[in-house]
Order: sequence, then C-alpha cells, then structure tokens
Amino acid sequence: NSLAPSPTPPMGWMSWYTFIDHINEKQIMEVADAMVSSGLRDAGYNLIQLDDGWMAKERDKEGRQYADKVRFPNGIKYLANYLHQKGLKLGIYSSNGSLTCAGYPGSYNHEEIDAKTYAEWGVDYLKYDACGKKEGHPDQELNMRMINAIKKTGRPMLYAVCVFGSNETHLWASKVATMWRTGGDIVQHIERNPIVTYKLWYTNLQQVIGKEAYAGNGHWNDPDNLIIGYPRNNEQTIEEQKAQFSFWSLIAAPLLLSVDVRAMDPKIKAIIMNKEVIAINQDKAGVQGSRLINDDDHEIWVKKLNDGSKAVILFNKKDVEAEIRLNLKDINEKGKVKVRDLWTKQNKTITSSLTSKVAPHGVVMFKINSFK
Ligand code: DGJ
Repeated sequence: NSLAPSPTPPMGWMSWYTFIDHINEKQIMEVADAMVSSGLRDAGYNLIQLDDGWMAKERDKEGRQYADKVRFPNGIKYLANYLHQKGLKLGIYSSNGSLTCAGYPGSYNHEEIDAKTYAEWGVDYLKYDACGKKEGHPDQELNMRMINAIKKTGRPMLYAVCVFGSNETHLWASKVATMWRTGGDIVQHIERNPIVTYKLWYTNLQQVIGKEAYAGNGHWNDPDNLIIGYPRNNEQTIEEQKAQFSFWSLIAAPLLLSVDVRAMDPKIKAIIMNKEVIAINQDKAGVQGSRLINDDDHEIWVKKLNDGSKAVILFNKKDVEAEIRLNLKDINEKGKVKVRDLWTKQNKTITSSLTSKVAPHGVVMFKINSFK
C-alpha cells in the first residue's frame, strides 16, 4: 500500500531524448531486446520508461487514457508483459495538467482512473510532468493527488516528479517521491535539434548542489538524463561523456539513458557499462557526493561510500589538458592510502598528494581507501 522502495538510484532508459514523442511498440520492444542482449539489464539498467507521446489524443468512452492504436497496436498491458518476461520494469508518463507538454491528455481531475489503469496494466513507475492547465493548484497538491491514487491501487510503483525549473520541489518531494527533477530539460527544444555539448550536463549538475541533504536511500535528486551517446548533434568528446557518467554516479542521480541502445557505439557502451563507476552510483549508503573545491580551472568532488572508502572526481574546466593535484588532507585523509583509478583501472599507493593529467572538460575518478 505504498510506493515501491528504491534504496539505490533507479537505472534504465527513457524514450524522450531518443524518439521524442514519435514512440511506438516495435521500437520499445527492440530497445527491451537490446537492453538484454547488450548486458545493460544485467548491469542494473532494468527500467524502460515511455515518455510523452504514448497516448491517443483523446480519452476512451469510460474516460481512460489509452495507447495510440496505430503506434501501440497491442496496448500497454501487452508491452508490460513483454518487459516483465525479460526482467525489465515498465515506466509510463503523464502530466498533472489537462494536457501533457506534447499535447496528449493529462491526468488533471483524472488521477484516480489513471492510477487504476496503470496498475491494471502492470506499470512499475510513473513520471509525472507539470504541463497543461490546472487553474492555480500548486504542484505539490497535484502530485499528492496522484501519489494517493497510486497508493490506493495497492500496486507498488516508483514515482518521479517533474516540475522542471522549480527549485523548491525537493522540499516536499523528498518526503513522498522516489525522485524529482532539479531543473529544466538537459537538452531543451529537442525538436529543433540543438547542438549538444558538455555545457548542458554541467548546467544541470549545478542544480543539485545544496540539495545533498534531501537525497538518500529511496529518494533522489534528478538532474535529468544521461546524454552519453545522445543520438542527434552530439558534439561531446568521449572524455566529456565519461565525465557526465562519473558525476551522475558520484551524486547518486538516477541513471537514465538517452542513447539508442539498439545501435550503440562500443565506446559509448564501455562508458555506461563501467561496473566500478556504476557501483559508486549504486552504493548502499545512498550518499549524494558533493563539491569540495571550486577553482577557476578545476573542481574536486567527493562521495563517502558504505565501506568507509571515498569516491573522488577531479574535473578539468579548461579547454586544454591540465594537471590537477589532489591533497589528501582536503578529503580528510592522511598517511598512506590506496587509490584506484575507476577508468584506467590502475592502482597506486600514495601519501599526502597526487597529481593527474586530466583531459579538457574531462575527469579522473578514484576510489580511495585508507590502510586500516
Ligand atoms: C518536459 C520534461 O521535462 C521532459 O523530460 C519530457 O518529459 C517532456 N516534458 C515531454 O513532453
């Protein structure tokens, strides 16, 4: 009789940045197949979320949302069964207003019937957007209506709040939701195919700073999708994409993929399948890492892990390669420590400090253990 637990950040793939609202059943089934055959599911990416555009433009005679009949000829329950048989969860999308952002029927004043419909279909996750008219009702109230409607169905679901741009969502959402967006879309106006650079994720990263205390086991700040392998106008270097993955892991963000998993570049796959970096994201303690040093040309971030060790990121802000120095005293370590580079997989033992070469807008990411 409650929302589903999420002791570590959710991991999966969501449709918006790959297919915009032109989604269909065949693509989603192919994505599901690829999640399994690529090993992504077994690496932890077990959620497939249909975003805006899955619905018909009208409700049915009983007032229910239903999937577009041409694009989803077998309906959502069929898709949910298909995913469940593969060990995947199905996520779905609606909005707290009368219309979704892409103009499909939203759940305003239909919360109970929609929650019931999702539960009947076997939905495991709801992303609840904030588009459409709703005459002066605060987002919190509208989300509570939907959360209570889901609880009433008895089907456990993860619940993702999406009130883009509102900075105060975390104050209430951290008490009632699995995750909540901390800012706007990481790639805005995607129908206009903007150029995608590291600056987009760097902007969204700033929006989780100061909200560390609101994240923890079961409730997570969500700075929006990974744009690693983003399928259109992606001008990021491999090092920049590794940097986003490192940061999203360190800050315990949900790991939601935008790459078309049916046709992945092996270099992209190697980033999102780095098991040691995923383990930092999925660390049991559920701590959101934080920024320790913010200089003009570099940053140092740290996250405390369940086993007493620390994950550390050195980020180079410059457009050219740089040397960044980590002083152990800055991360409250002294004496000898073991350092493992989570990308090159090299181990070292160091005392007092360590200097690393870091690519432009790239990171070096370490796991640091003290000798006990
Ligand atoms: C706005 C959200 O922030 C996006 O993630 C996406 O769900 C779109 N709406 C869909 O219209």
